[in-house]
Amino acid sequence: MPLFIWKPSYETHIPEIDYDHRQLVGLINELYEAMKQGQGYDLMNETLNRLIDYVSQHFETEEGFMRAGNYPGILDHQKEHQQFRASILEMDVRRRAGHAPPSIELLTYLRDWLRDHVTTTDKELGRYLKKMQN
Ligand SMILES: [Fe+2]
Repeated sequence: MPLFIWKPSYETHIPEIDYDHRQLVGLINELYEAMKQGQGYDLMNETLNRLIDYVSQHFETEEGFMRAGNYPGILDHQKEHQQFRASILEMDVRRRAGHAPPSIELLTYLRDWLRDHVTTTDKELGRYLKKMQN
């Protein structure tokens, strides 16, 4: 049973953004499965590396849509992205120093991100972009 089940109601209806979000949910569930097998710590290196790539590519995609659509909420939305990026990089710094955060810390952080950003802030962006397209 995965930790987080993607629901159609979470979709922004912007295919590029939804594709990325589903990738993120997959990554979170993989980490959760590894933890259940007692292998969460082993997957930390890979998960953090994947997240760093994900963040630079995915946030650029979203922010590109915001700029193109003159999204009025861009600054607040970008602030949330910057906060997420900083947290992931900070965990990566700890990992490089040999003090990787416990996998439950990362997992909890990612779960909260899905709840507080992907299914709320990003949904709001999706609604705006859809309205602009119509
Ligand atoms: Fe976002």
